[in-house]
Amino acid sequence: MKQAHAFANANIALIKYWGKNEGCFNIPAVSSLSMTLNDFGTSVSLVASKIHKHQALINNKPASLEVLERLDAYLEQVRCFYPFSGHLHVSSKSNVPFKAGLASSAAFFAALAVALDVALALGLDQKDLSRLARLGSGSAARSIFGGFCGLHGGPGTNHEEAFAFPLEINAKLNLAMVIAIVDEGMKPLSSRAAMNLTKKTSPFFNVFVKDHDKDLELAKNALKTGSFVKLGEAMECSTLKMFATMWTALPSINYWRPQSLALIETVYELRKKHGPKAFFTMDAGPNVKILCEEDFLPTVLKTIIETGYARDLLVAKPGSGAFSSKIL
Ligand code: PMV
Repeated sequence: MKQAHAFANANIALIKYWGKNEGCFNIPAVSSLSMTLNDFGTSVSLVASKIHKHQALINNKPASLEVLERLDAYLEQVRCFYPFSGHLHVSSKSNVPFKAGLASSAAFFAALAVALDVALALGLDQKDLSRLARLGSGSAARSIFGGFCGLHGGPGTNHEEAFAFPLEINAKLNLAMVIAIVDEGMKPLSSRAAMNLTKKTSPFFNVFVKDHDKDLELAKNALKTGSFVKLGEAMECSTLKMFATMWTALPSINYWRPQSLALIETVYELRKKHGPKAFFTMDAGPNVKILCEEDFLPTVLKTIIETGYARDLLVAKPGSGAFSSKIL
């Protein structure tokens, strides 16, 4: 195998993926739609391992047993699809806070898929790459693409069908996202475990799946026609339905902190004062992501800073898809 380097940006779902179909291919229970962020990503380097097992360095430190086990399972699954001999040494560096609901695994597995393509000389196209990334983490399929993209999922979707695809966006929309970091700590439950528990125990999970395509269509149309308000409304709706399934799981799952709710109230206040210019979403973590158009960004930033609820603020615009690189 060749040595390979690749980089992928994180992505944030505007229309959420939550839940997996039965089986071991990480097929999302619903389709989703996301924005790939600029400048928040992960680089991955691959070389042959000198010992008879896979090894990993994450941000220059040996990976924890939990991470290593997940990586090992992933690479062995990849081996079934694309046979290769020997073992791999994976090093990754990221500026995405680890496990804070900021899609760190999405950037990691998308970069790893691209690096594997190069290292094993597979010659994959973007559809294949997104399938390969999805085997590691559902949302990683979307980080293969830049800008805005969709990911196929839903009941009955199989491995071949579950890939991401780019979406056209109306030139009127100049979107920006503010990521208000409430807490960078580890999450109480991985999104994988939370999805499984939700699917098994929440009476609302089936409603979420059944209702999901409505939000997806609204968001796709809004991107096409350039309606920021319709996009924002669909995003908040999808987000809150996803959390409704978590809160009604047994035992209940809660990623929110008091500051998360206070930041959401701040978004409502912004809308009362300025009209529908900012909308929120959240993922499997306490941080709040606020979507706005670029001209409203200074007001969002000033307002959030004044509240004191965020420990840190990141600003992202739509970024590039995953690519192979020389630099780590
Ligand atoms: O790809 P995973 O397993 O980390 O799941 C991501 C789930 C959400 O971030 C909550 C939603 C999404 O579509 O990204």
